[in-house]
Amino acid sequence: MSADAVATIQERLDALGNRFEAAFAAAPTEHELRAEQAKLLGKKGELTAVLALMRDVPADQRPAAGALVNAFKVKVESRFEACLKALGNAALRTELEARPFDLTLPGRLSLGRGHVHPVLAVRDELLEIFSDLGFQSVDGPEIELEANNFTKLAFPPDHPATDMQDTFWFDSGVLLRTHTSNVQVREMIALAERVKQGARPACAIVSAGAVYRRDDDVTHSPMFNQIEGFLVDEHVSMAELRGVLSALAERLYGPGTAVRFRPSYFPFVEPGAEVDVACVFCHVDDGSRSSCRVCKTTGWLEIGGCGMVHPEVFRHTGLDPERVTGFAFGMGIDRIAMLRYGIPNIRLLFDNDPRFLAQF
Ligand code: PHE
Repeated sequence: MSADAVATIQERLDALGNRFEAAFAAAPTEHELRAEQAKLLGKKGELTAVLALMRDVPADQRPAAGALVNAFKVKVESRFEACLKALGNAALRTELEARPFDLTLPGRLSLGRGHVHPVLAVRDELLEIFSDLGFQSVDGPEIELEANNFTKLAFPPDHPATDMQDTFWFDSGVLLRTHTSNVQVREMIALAERVKQGARPACAIVSAGAVYRRDDDVTHSPMFNQIEGFLVDEHVSMAELRGVLSALAERLYGPGTAVRFRPSYFPFVEPGAEVDVACVFCHVDDGSRSSCRVCKTTGWLEIGGCGMVHPEVFRHTGLDPERVTGFAFGMGIDRIAMLRYGIPNIRLLFDNDPRFLAQF
């Protein structure tokens, strides 16, 4: 090759230069820009082909030719970087100038909606039924004095019922209430105060909430929920108690649902009874019932206890048993929920496993 070798290389580089600058500037994306760069600088690239010409360059002219090639490479790199940056800026500008995100569109991730827990749904339904029957709903404390949970309800000291109910004790005299009947005591004391101020000795109250006993098996949990109801007035009879509980059964389980009282003992009522409702699962009461696992073929389901307020309770709370009478009842809310939904194990209600709760 002649002394023109350097000039030839210069010419080729000039030609490449014109082409690549236009190609880089026209590349619409980073991917295409990089492809253009590879076409130029890659192993089989156009510059490599130019470098092959170096073989023909006389030794004394090689430094000059090498400098040309290096200068060219630097130019390619700097154009590449500049174009890359321009593409990035353009992408950012497009994003900023685009219509803003519509925050009102529904999300792509579907988060399931929660719902009321079955126990609370049943509690609210019970409270609504009693509200319709004229009962006022109040709350009571779960940490209670022994006096309000037992003594004023006429449990004698060391009565076996205090064992039967397996109490959780704090210090002596303070406990986790074993039933919602503590609210009877508190409300009757409040009523007695009002009577002193001249009010009529009457109230109709319900109270729902958690109670605690040291009990743990498929139908018993150390924490469970009860609803208590009681009505005090002059001339209240057991007929009214039956009427209220029959109305409840019909509202809960449908018209005609029968209620049965079985004599039973609670220290704070006299007479006292267990309340059963006709089995909502097998319904028949004609002797043809062959098997019902829920009522164990008896045809009846126990839902709670009830009775006429014991005169002792009136005396302990400051009301006059010669003047007033009253009835009281207490029911297991969890038990009613289990019967309603056919839940076999009470623990399912409190484990809060979403796979269980999603079924309601
Ligand atoms: N407190 C009683 C219990 O928990 C239920 C009950 C309430 C009984 C009111 C009679 C009257 O077993």
